[in-house]
Amino acid sequence: MLEGFWYIATDSGNVHVGQPCAAVLCNQPLVLFRDRHGQVHALDDRCPHKGVPLSSGWQEGDSLRCPFHGWRFISSGECVEVPSIGNAPHPSPVSACVRTFPAEERDGWVWVYIGNSQCPKPTSPPPSLPVPADGSPMVSVRESAEAKVRWDFAVDSLMDPAHVPFVHNNYFRQREAAREKEKVFTRLPLGFRTISQNVLLPDTFIFRALSPRLGLATTTVDFVLPGIHSERWEIGKRFASVMLVATPLTDDRSRFDICVGWNFLHGLPVGWLVRRTLRTILSQDREVLESQEQGFGLKGSMLLNLESDNLAVWYRQLKKYHGDMLAGVHDPQHPIPEKTRLKWVT
Ligand code: FES
Ligand SMILES: [Fe+2]
Repeated sequence: MLEGFWYIATDSGNVHVGQPCAAVLCNQPLVLFRDRHGQVHALDDRCPHKGVPLSSGWQEGDSLRCPFHGWRFISSGECVEVPSIGNAPHPSPVSACVRTFPAEERDGWVWVYIGNSQCPKPTSPPPSLPVPADGSPMVSVRESAEAKVRWDFAVDSLMDPAHVPFVHNNYFRQREAAREKEKVFTRLPLGFRTISQNVLLPDTFIFRALSPRLGLATTTVDFVLPGIHSERWEIGKRFASVMLVATPLTDDRSRFDICVGWNFLHGLPVGWLVRRTLRTILSQDREVLESQEQGFGLKGSMLLNLESDNLAVWYRQLKKYHGDMLAGVHDPQHPIPEKTRLKWVT
C-alpha cells in the first residue's frame, strides 16, 4: 500500500448528515461524517478510550459520540466531552485525540488522503475525471465493485491490454478482430501516457454509442500512482472520458470505482444502461481476478515477460521510485523511459 496519496473512501451519496459511515482504506478503518455545512470529515474509526468504532456511535451536531461511554469528538479529532469524568482531570488532548485524515469530495466520491510523517498533508487536490477542453458540460455515471483480490492484481488489471479481448470480449473489441498495435508511451511524473491519433474505433456497441459511424478518434490513456487509469476519447466535438480507480481496502480486498462522462446525448436517459454495462465489466474483472488470486497462491510467481506486461513492470518500478523519494534516497531515477514503443496484439 502506498502512503502519500488520495484514495476513494466511498460514494458521496453514502455520507449523510447525522449518519456516521464506516469505510476502510489501506487497512485503516475510517469513520466519515458530514457536518451541518455539508463538509465531509474522516477520522480513525476507533475511540481512544477503549477502542469501540466511532462509526457505531452517533453524530451530535458537528461531533461524534462514542456509544460505549459517551466520549464526544469534534472534526479536528479532539475529545471535547467525557460524561463520566467527575472531578478527574480531563484526558489530555493528545491521548484523547482521534487521528484525522484530509477528506474532499470530487466526481461524486469522497477522497481521503492517507499520508505518513514524510508526507502528512496532500500537495495537490484529488484526481478528477478528464473534461473537454471546450468546457462543454458533461453527464457522468459511476459504479463500483469490491473484489477479494490483492491491490497489485487489481492495479495490474487497469492497464493490462491483453486481457481485454478475453475478459471483456465484444465490449471494447471482438476477440477475432484483434490486430497488432504499436503504442508510444511517455513519462508522467508518477505514471505514463499513450496518445493515439486518428484511430478507427472498434465496432462494438460501446464505441457505436460514442460515434454511430465509428469515426476516427484521438485517445489519451494515462496511468498514475497509486492506481488510477484515465482515458479520454475525442471524435470531432464529441468527448467522453473514463476514470477507473483501484483502491486497497485490506491486504486481500480491493475496490474498483469507475466514472464515465460524455458531452453529448444529454437529453437521452441512457445513464442506467451505461451503469449496467459498467457493472458487467467490473464483474468480469472481479471474477477473473478472484480466480487469479486463488491460482497465484499455489505457486506465487508470475511471468511478466511480454511487451503487454511491461506496464505491470513499470507500475512496480514506479512504486519503488515513490518509496525511494519518500525515504529521501539520493537522486532516485524515474523508471519510465522518456519515450518507449510497445507492441501487442489485441
Ligand atoms: S470506548 Fe469510547 S467512550 Fe469508552
Ligand atoms: Fe478489465
